[in-house]
Amino acid sequence: MSPFPTHLLGIDDLGAEGIAEVLRVADSFAEVGRRANPKVPTLRGRTVATLFFEDSTRTRMSFETAAKRMSADVLSFAAGSSSLKKGESLRDTVETIEAIGIDSVIIRHASSGVPARVAEWVDHCAVINAGDGWHEHPTQALLDLYTVRSALGGGDAGMARFDGLQVAIVGDVRHSRVARSQIAAYAALGAEVTLVAPVTLLPPSLDGWAVAAVSHDLDRVLPKVDVVSLLRVQEERGSGAFLPSLREYTAGYGLTARRAEMLSPDAMILHPGPIVRGVEIASDVAELPAALITDQVSNGVAVRMAVLFLVLGQGPIGGAHGA
Ligand code: NCD
Repeated sequence: MSPFPTHLLGIDDLGAEGIAEVLRVADSFAEVGRRANPKVPTLRGRTVATLFFEDSTRTRMSFETAAKRMSADVLSFAAGSSSLKKGESLRDTVETIEAIGIDSVIIRHASSGVPARVAEWVDHCAVINAGDGWHEHPTQALLDLYTVRSALGGGDAGMARFDGLQVAIVGDVRHSRVARSQIAAYAALGAEVTLVAPVTLLPPSLDGWAVAAVSHDLDRVLPKVDVVSLLRVQEERGSGAFLPSLREYTAGYGLTARRAEMLSPDAMILHPGPIVRGVEIASDVAELPAALITDQVSNGVAVRMAVLFLVLGQGPIGGAHGA
């Protein structure tokens, strides 16, 4: 088996084999998460820093929870109150962080490519991309796959069912790093991805994108899919300018209660969050048993523990804390 990459910058760093390894290791950490004391000593003595230059609720909390459950020391870097405000460059900030002796930086930035640049600047620190611009958000895609695999029976049997699985990714693909990582991840496992979006919310070119089809008609796609994965309209990334109005978006592309009834009984509804109720998903639909949105969040912790373990850890996954 090829070695796990030093950094996790995008899904292509992993390939099908690396993805399968993350999901397998995540099973062990999900088991840890179900214990009365969900903490293991695996990363004791290691230090992890979260460097978030953009807003986040679930991704930051999920990574920090993951690191703490593995007994790592966790530093939370707030860009707004750092020396960046005094004019320090990102490169000097990163070199400072490395000189302090941090083992891994988990980085989110509004500019695509920043984690890759940071990975070039560090000598021993593992860089994990927690979302860069419109580019990638690999751990989000991995936790989506973990959630789907669990719903398909889990383990190797669940994994085998990705082959030919029909997945619709619906919404603001143009501005979505989540979509880019999801497409690469589903395609690596043999799933067939259909993008469903108004033309203005698709990227100008789909050359090199591993998608099977593109549609502008959600009603026609829904009855045929096993997974419908919704995206938020990324207004802070400018998508408002690409739409006449949010109401019109919902009329064409929102997963309303009427549309949810078109799904096959076993279909799954996913959303990376944050959800905007009444826009891309109706409030009632978000509460259906088929909606796995909170499972995605819970699984995110186990998946991020697996990623931290694979880039940093090794050694035993660990027994009870203090064992
Ligand atoms: C996503 C993000 O920030 O890329 N959220 C997340 O990490 N779960 C998606 C979004 O903001 O819509």
